[in-house]
Amino acid sequence: MQPTLVWDLPTRLFHWTLVLSFVGAWLTTGSDRWLAVHVFLGYLMLGLIGFRVLWGVLGTHYARFTSFWYGPLTALAYMRRVFNRTAERHVGHNPTGSLAIYILLLLILVAGVSGIFTLGGEEQQGAFTGVMSLLQSRTFKKFHEISANLMLLVVTGHLAGVIVESFVHNENLARSMVTGTKLTEPGAPTVIPRRGIAALMLVLILGSGGWWFYYAIDTKLDQARGENEGPHVKFIGTPLADNPQWRSECGSCHLPYHPNLLPSRSWKALLAGQAQHFGSDLALDAATSAALLEYAKTNSADKLVTEASYKITRSLKPADTPLRITETPYWVKKHRNITPAQWQSDAVKSKANCAACHLDADEGTFLDAAMRIPAIAATPKASQ
Ligand code: HEC
Ligand code: HEC
Repeated sequence: MQPTLVWDLPTRLFHWTLVLSFVGAWLTTGSDRWLAVHVFLGYLMLGLIGFRVLWGVLGTHYARFTSFWYGPLTALAYMRRVFNRTAERHVGHNPTGSLAIYILLLLILVAGVSGIFTLGGEEQQGAFTGVMSLLQSRTFKKFHEISANLMLLVVTGHLAGVIVESFVHNENLARSMVTGTKLTEPGAPTVIPRRGIAALMLVLILGSGGWWFYYAIDTKLDQARGENEGPHVKFIGTPLADNPQWRSECGSCHLPYHPNLLPSRSWKALLAGQAQHFGSDLALDAATSAALLEYAKTNSADKLVTEASYKITRSLKPADTPLRITETPYWVKKHRNITPAQWQSDAVKSKANCAACHLDADEGTFLDAAMRIPAIAATPKASQ
């Protein structure tokens, strides 16, 4: 037995970049604040599997699909032999590991493409912006979540397989994916490192990362408040409908709340009750009132123009006609973690003062990426 190069450099680079992207993609699922990183890692994984498919045809011996083209039954039979401790050793991928590779490649494809559809529908961003409605993109979001969870399952199985195999054949499989070498019989197929191709891959990965973050991250939002709260995504979707009459009639006392935040029955009730509007008489004439209602109805929450309108509508019962956005169950749920001190701070004062925390409140988009809770001025401590 002699040490021989089995995994060429591009295969190893592919493997470990995929591992890091996978972990990173999971870590960035919690908040839209990290969406730019999450989306970049998704595109990167799609690029990586594109490369892997090419490399499966053009690459070196052990990287080629022909060297590990086993059916699912062979994979199961091999797994059984592993448990019976009669499994033969494979220098390249064993039949069970091969099955995991094919399933993972497929799952990444499904997760990546469904992710781009979700992004296009829900956030109005990315390559598929405007391709489908928010409601249609919800189906793809399901696919995205299911495929990501299945991936986690297959990865766990893969890790268990690596550990078991390493014990059964008394060799460190994880280390050989780092060094590339394994002990083989003399005369086993040889592999060329392919350093040039690996270097090209590295340049492409780093270059695309640089390009993505240069264009995707909006620093203007930070500059507006003189804060830096980490990466967030630019809004590049179609701007929501705007109306000068609405702005002038409804924007003098508070933010001219965008109609997508309440259903049309609420706008109808608000305008019908305009003479007793939260203690004020709006004194609108009939024509103005009708024009405002027309604008509100065509852009209301039931038209599902934004993620917020979809979720507000879904949180209401058909009979509910809230007169306040701040009384809709979705709004209440989204803001339940804000403390009384934060609501009462000088910068906020009222729940209805959306613009204090949402930099895009005026446009009506309410993206997480544009959300900030203003720092509460420290109350001076009583002297001791
Ligand atoms: C004369 C001042 C004034 C004008 C003009 C005005 N509002 Fe208001 N509006 C108020 C006050 C006061 C409140 C209560 C604010 C609070 O609770 O902090 C309010 C609250 C609201 C709320 C509820 C906000 C929440 O808590 O979710 C909506 C919706 C609303 N107004 C819509 C409109 C619309 C639509 C127009 C234009 C047709 C309009 N307002 C014009 C004074 C006004
Ligand atoms: C004190 C700050 C503050 C004020 C004022 C405020 N919000 Fe928010 N809002 C937040 C925070 C924080 C979140 C994010 C909660 C989370 O992490 O899920 C949020 C989330 C939201 C979301 C969900 C965004 C998404 O895509 O998940 C919507 C919609 C929203 N706010 C609308 C409003 C509207 C409309 C108003 C005014 C009537 C308002 N907010 C006033 C702090 C505020």
